[in-house]
Amino acid sequence: MSIIIFNMKKVGNHTSISRILLFCLAVSLTFSLPSFAQEKSSPGTMTAPAPGDATTVAPTAGAETAAAPSGGAGDAAKGKELFNTNCASCHKLDARSTGPALRGVADKHDRQWMYKWIHNSSELIKSGDPEAVKLFTENNNVTMTAFPQLSEADIDNILAYTSEVAPKVETPTGGQVAQGGGSGASETLILGALALVLVVLIVMLVLVNKTLRKVAAANGVVYPEKAPGISVWKAYAKNQFLVLVTAILLLLASSYFLYGWLMQVGVDQDYAPVQPIHFSHKIHAGDNGIDCKYCHSAARVSKNSGIPSLNVCMNCHKNIAEFTGDKDSVYVDHSKEFYTAEIQKLYNATGWDKTTQKYTGKTSPVKWVRIHNLPDFVYFNHSQHVSVAGVECQKCHGPVETFEVMKQFSPLTMGWCVNCHRETDVKVEGNAYYEKIHSELAKKFGKQKLTAADMGATECGKCHY
Ligand code: HEC
Ligand code: HEC
Ligand code: HEC
Ligand code: HEC
Ligand code: HEC
Ligand code: HEC
Repeated sequence: MSIIIFNMKKVGNHTSISRILLFCLAVSLTFSLPSFAQEKSSPGTMTAPAPGDATTVAPTAGAETAAAPSGGAGDAAKGKELFNTNCASCHKLDARSTGPALRGVADKHDRQWMYKWIHNSSELIKSGDPEAVKLFTENNNVTMTAFPQLSEADIDNILAYTSEVAPKVETPTGGQVAQGGGSGASETLILGALALVLVVLIVMLVLVNKTLRKVAAANGVVYPEKAPGISVWKAYAKNQFLVLVTAILLLLASSYFLYGWLMQVGVDQDYAPVQPIHFSHKIHAGDNGIDCKYCHSAARVSKNSGIPSLNVCMNCHKNIAEFTGDKDSVYVDHSKEFYTAEIQKLYNATGWDKTTQKYTGKTSPVKWVRIHNLPDFVYFNHSQHVSVAGVECQKCHGPVETFEVMKQFSPLTMGWCVNCHRETDVKVEGNAYYEKIHSELAKKFGKQKLTAADMGATECGKCHY
């Protein structure tokens, strides 16, 4: 009897284990299949609408090959070069700049008129040509540069280039965003699927363990109960020496952390607030090599460096409405659309309308968030350090030309100032004021090199009012 029951149970258990296993396999397969499918499909979707790189490659490839429908016998490739060197500063193909958009302009005017216009537009306007006068008044009476040096063949080439059909782009904007979002979504999906598979595996293990126990019980195997050992904690509590040592260690550790915490109060190293316009020092000072002092012009001559006014930005940005990122850098932090939208914020703030190329008069100042801020009782002067001492901006502000987001690089503590004054030699050469004092002081201190500290830069009164 017992044998029969035992056998039946065994069989029963056997089937239930295999059932569970089969079920789990099925579940894990159904969840893992879509995750693999996702993986395979994502590169597919990336190539299909050709966002990102593909779109930027397509137009240039097309530029070389596409035939000019109405540009006549011109060579579009040569035309592109001529356009970029002579016309691109005022014209774009598909958007207004200083002058109107030029795509398809060859169809608007007679070819002979075009030669005259490009050779010398103001002469044509003066001659009273109605077409020319109309253009001129429509464009705020801005005079176009004369190009007498361009031959008619050159102009044909340029017009061949401007007559090229705009490259068909399915998702011109948001393409990159979609790409980023797509791969991000598929990543989270894969991760989710993997997590599910893990959970299923754990459930499987628990179930297998349970059934195995049942089988063992049915087989009459007895589990040894855990032997009740002496509690470690009780032993510990009884040992007074150990308790004392831990108490002391705990006290030391907590006071150490408390001290560290107190010392960093008011120290804002690495503070990097979000600014109203995402302004990248990497793109401006790094990739485009703009000198710090072009924008922070006050650093040389005054106590404060200051933040440039928006007029300074507009010196360049009247003509840079769009982020193209044509420097060799890789822009991984944000998409081109994001950067272009940030430039638009600058236009909104200054009231610049890029389609009419005029100020509307509606301005809304940008409130930059101040990052560096010494307490009021400290005196710090930029010109003293930048012009007199010749200290590089980077010595105190770090490799700013690599910062996508500006941050406070140095601690700006008193120790930081004083240490540098002890270590930095005063630049004496070429400084008439110092050369005289230097020889006297050098005698006094008995050494050739003088540090800022020797000059009195560690006296409290120099930095504290
Ligand atoms: C200094 C800026 C400037 C440069 C450089 C310039 N243009 Fe212009 N262009 C203008 C302006 C402004 C107008 C609008 C008419 C006006 O105000 O005189 C214009 C108008 C035109 C027009 C007529 C557009 C229309 O919609 O009818 C053509 C064609 C043209 N430019 C071609 C060229 C070519 C080709 C070059 C390069 C060889 C060039 N321009 C360089 C400023 C410029
Ligand atoms: C094209 C103009 C421009 C150039 C060039 C430029 N900056 Fe700036 N800088 C700004 C603007 C705008 C801000 C305010 C926005 C921000 O903090 O990112 C700023 C902020 C800063 C700040 C923080 C100011 C604060 O609030 O405490 C420092 C420091 C700084 N710049 C240093 C530099 C150095 C060093 C260089 C050269 C490597 C440089 N900048 C080049 C425009 C410029
Ligand atoms: C000396 C010329 C110059 C000045 C001055 C200048 N920019 Fe730019 N700016 C550029 C160039 C070049 C680019 C990159 C364009 C590209 O790669 O297509 C750029 C890109 C940008 C971008 C997009 C990238 C980013 O940093 O987020 C913004 C926003 C921007 N500028 C804002 C400003 C502001 C605000 C100021 C004034 C504080 C300013 N710019 C001053 C030349 C300048
Ligand atoms: C000796 C260190 C040192 C050098 C060199 C230095 N700075 Fe500063 N910078 C500071 C300190 C400290 C502050 C904070 C000043 C304050 O809060 O009063 C500061 C603040 C700034 C600010 C915020 C606005 C302001 O004036 O308070 C800008 C912008 C700035 N520096 C740019 C520059 C540029 C650009 C250069 C190079 C031409 C430069 N700094 C060189 C230490 C330095
Ligand atoms: C990178 C090194 C460096 C740092 C950091 C630095 N300084 Fe200086 N500082 C100098 C040098 C070098 C001189 C001497 C300039 C000269 O030739 O007069 C100087 C001079 C001075 C002077 C004039 C001293 C005199 O004898 O007239 C004052 C005040 C001063 N620094 C304040 C500060 C304060 C405040 C800080 C911190 C917020 C600071 N400095 C951080 C290098 C530094
Ligand atoms: C080279 C410039 C410099 C000199 C010299 C200097 N200090 Fe300071 N001191 C600072 C700066 C910068 C701070 C602000 C530090 C901060 O905000 O963390 C400061 C802060 C302080 C504070 C406030 C406590 C703190 O750490 O924030 C006291 C008190 C002080 N200094 C006393 C002195 C005395 C006393 C002397 C003369 C022995 C002296 N300082 C010389 C730059 C200097």
